[in-house]
Amino acid sequence: MAIISDEENFKNTKAHNEATTSSQTAYDMSFETNIRPKSFNEYVGQSALKANLKISIESAKKRELPLDHILFYGPPGLGKTTLAGVIAKEMNADIKITSAPALERPRDIIGILMSLKAGDVLFIDEIHRLNKVSEEILYSAMEDFYLDMTTGKSQTLKSIRIPLPKFTLIGATTKAGALSGPLRDRFGIIHRLEFYTEEELKQVIKRTAQILEININEEGSKAIALRSRGTPRIANRLVKRVRDYAIVKSDGFIDEKTANKALDILQIDKFGLDNTDRALLSLIANKYGGGPVGLETLATALGEDVKTIEDVYEPYLLQQGYIQRTPRGRKLTEHAVKCFNLKNIDIQKTLF
Ligand SMILES: Nc1ncnc2c1ncn2[C@@H]1O[C@H](COP(=O)(O)OP(=O)(O)OP(=O)(O)O)[C@@H](O)[C@H]1O
Ligand SMILES: [Mg+2]
Repeated sequence: MAIISDEENFKNTKAHNEATTSSQTAYDMSFETNIRPKSFNEYVGQSALKANLKISIESAKKRELPLDHILFYGPPGLGKTTLAGVIAKEMNADIKITSAPALERPRDIIGILMSLKAGDVLFIDEIHRLNKVSEEILYSAMEDFYLDMTTGKSQTLKSIRIPLPKFTLIGATTKAGALSGPLRDRFGIIHRLEFYTEEELKQVIKRTAQILEININEEGSKAIALRSRGTPRIANRLVKRVRDYAIVKSDGFIDEKTANKALDILQIDKFGLDNTDRALLSLIANKYGGGPVGLETLATALGEDVKTIEDVYEPYLLQQGYIQRTPRGRKLTEHAVKCFNLKNIDIQKTLF
C-alpha cells in the first residue's frame, strides 16, 4: 500500500488541548504510524459503520469493481483517516492521501487524478475546503470517470475529455454541512463517526500501551479513558503523557492513582474538559447569563478562532449535553449548570 503524503502534516492547525503544543516531531510521526490500526480487527468501535462497510467491500470485491465513493464526517481524531487506510487495505488497493488545501490550483487535482491506477483509493481530507474550480473538476471524475479540460487561449480554446481509471474517492470532513449539495450527492456511501464509549476507549488505550510496551492496569486505562473526551487521538496522546509522568515520578507503571495525578497536572478534569472548555462554559454562565450568545463573541472573549471552537471544542460539549445550539447562539443547559456548579466559577481564574 503506497501512501504519498502523510495527512498528519495538515493537522498542526488542529493542535488540541491534549497536552502537547509542539509541532509533530519525527518520533511522533513514527508513533502515529505504529499505533494507527491497519485492519478492521484492530479498529476499535464504530461497529455499525464497520458492519456496513464490510458488506460494501465484499460486494465490490464480488463484482470486481471499485467501491462507491465514501464520505466520512465527524469531529477530529475519531478515526476518519485511519478508516480510509483500513478500507484501502481490505480492498488490496493503493491509497493516495491528500487534503483540500493542497489542491488549490486546478493542476494539483488534475495531476493527482491522472496519477491514479484502476482500483486506487484517493483520500481527500478537509474536503469541504475544496475551491469551486477543483470541485467541478471532481464532479465528472467521480461520476463518469472523465476529466473535462479546456486547453489553448480564447480563439483556439478546445474542450477535451480524458478517461480516468475507475477509482474510489474517500472524502473526510469535520463539517458535513459545509459541503456543497452537488459534491455530497456524488458520494454513494456517507457515514458519520461517533464519539467512543468508555469501554471502547479503554480498548484503544490498552492496545496503544501494548504497542508502546507500557505497563498499565485496568483502573489506569479507565482513568485515562474517562478524560479522553470520547476521542482515540486524545486517548493516545494522554497515554504518552501519563507514561512520561509514571517514568519520572514512579516506577513507570500506570495505575489509577498515577494516571489521575498526571492528568491533574495536565489540567484535564474528570469530565475530560480542559481549561478552554471550562472557560467557555463559565463565560456563557457568568458573562452572558447562560446564553444565547453568538459564536464569534465567544471566540473573541476566549482568544480562540471561531473554527477551533466550532470544530474542536463544541462537538464534545454538545454531545455531552452541556451546551445547545440555538438560532440566536450558544446556550448553556441545565445539566451543565448542575454538573459544574457554574454560577460559582470565577471567570478570571478560569480564563488565565
Ligand atoms: N477506531 C480506532 N481504534 C483505534 N485507534 C484509533 C481508532 N480511530 C482512531 N484511532 C487513533 O486515533 C488517531 C486519530 O485518528 P485519525 O487520524 O484517523 O482521525 P481523523 O478522524 O482523521 O481526525 P481529523 O479530523 O483530525 O483528520 C490515530 O492515530 C489512530 O491511531
Ligand atoms: Mg484525518
